[in-house]
Amino acid sequence: MDLANLDHDHPSFYLDPHRAFTRIHAEQPVLHTNAKGGYWLLTRYGDIRAALLDWQNFSSAGLEASSIHAQWPPEAAIVELPVGSDPPRHTKYRSLVAPWFGRGHVAPLEPALREDARRLLAKLADAGGGDAVQDFALPYILSALARFLAVPVRDAKRFMEYAEGTFIGRAAHRHVAEQSRYGLIEYVHDRMTGDRGGADSYFSFLAASRIDGRRLDDEEILGFGSLAYLAGVETTVNGIANSMHHLGMHPDDQTLLRDPSVDMEAAVEELLRIRAPVTLLGRHTTADVEVGGCPIPKGSSVAMCYGGANVDAAVYPDPLRFRLGRKTRHLAFGTGRHLCLGAALARLEIRVAVEEALAALPHWEVDTSGEARPMMLPRGELHGFWRLPIRIQTAA
Ligand code: HEM
Repeated sequence: MDLANLDHDHPSFYLDPHRAFTRIHAEQPVLHTNAKGGYWLLTRYGDIRAALLDWQNFSSAGLEASSIHAQWPPEAAIVELPVGSDPPRHTKYRSLVAPWFGRGHVAPLEPALREDARRLLAKLADAGGGDAVQDFALPYILSALARFLAVPVRDAKRFMEYAEGTFIGRAAHRHVAEQSRYGLIEYVHDRMTGDRGGADSYFSFLAASRIDGRRLDDEEILGFGSLAYLAGVETTVNGIANSMHHLGMHPDDQTLLRDPSVDMEAAVEELLRIRAPVTLLGRHTTADVEVGGCPIPKGSSVAMCYGGANVDAAVYPDPLRFRLGRKTRHLAFGTGRHLCLGAALARLEIRVAVEEALAALPHWEVDTSGEARPMMLPRGELHGFWRLPIRIQTAA
């Protein structure tokens, strides 16, 4: 890997981000690369945390146009809200939707999520294994998101059709990705009119919301609706897939989590730390800044490597080891003004999925022997799998 030209969308990075971060931490933790027209990567915990809190100098406005992320054609380049805005606009947008994302709205979903997970996992158990993404994590999360947004659960099927394009097409097959993107926009657009997916849906809530004494316009509703799908599917599917992969590759950790006295909330945090589903997201500098003694000029693109922060050995000794009881809060959900709004939902979805998988499946391992090999997402900003075959171990 040539650090001066490192491209996070190159397989040498995304196939093994741990290896990449170990080297970058040792050699150049504030790294400039010439790839993608030139950008910086912040990879140390302290540097990223400080930059995320310093929203004045590290701006999120225009995130959708950042060269760090895959570009859409102009008609598909939506300003995702609230993530693609800075205070004071961001503060208003965020407080508008924050109640929808709160624990009070999320916790009642648990019984339905458990039922969905059990139904899908029973099929895997009967078959002696299957694909932990295609047969479990993806359909489970799409239904969970429909329940969360209070739109008909049958709508989840429509999203299955777009998933491949939004997950892997962005890097590999441009036209498939664009078709998926248009499909998503069309879906959100449909929900902005007519019955809005139901009187109690997120879209009805957005349509009734007011900002500065006026209703949200169509572009804003599209921004909120589109982000709910983009931020709410790939991330949590990856969180579940990465957890199942880790436990399939580390039988001792799987055995540990089968102990009913284990604190599963803490276990999910540690799984999210080791294998952050979002590896990095962009910012741009609004002034000349200095990070770790390194000058970064105004107008630079900067990648916040949450995945790197979470395996920074200066903060997490023996960082790749799963260890319950670590004290420092990980950055998988970011921090500061843009701290993930969906964190309560994500934590619930992942915990229920892992608990139910441990209950329904005897010891599983990742199956690398068959034709359907594990397939990682071919994109460096996310860390996860599109296919993850698992096999249930049978007693000898
Ligand atoms: C394990 C799963 C998830 C991970 C790792 C994750 C990660 C993140 C990260 C790192 C950010 C900060 C972005 C930044 O700093 O610019 C973020 C923001 C956000 N996430 Fe999540 N996310 C997850 C699940 C979800 C879910 C399920 C939803 C909603 C259904 C969601 C909705 C959002 C929203 C709306 C924001 C923007 C917050 C703001 O700008 O104020 N996320 N997420």
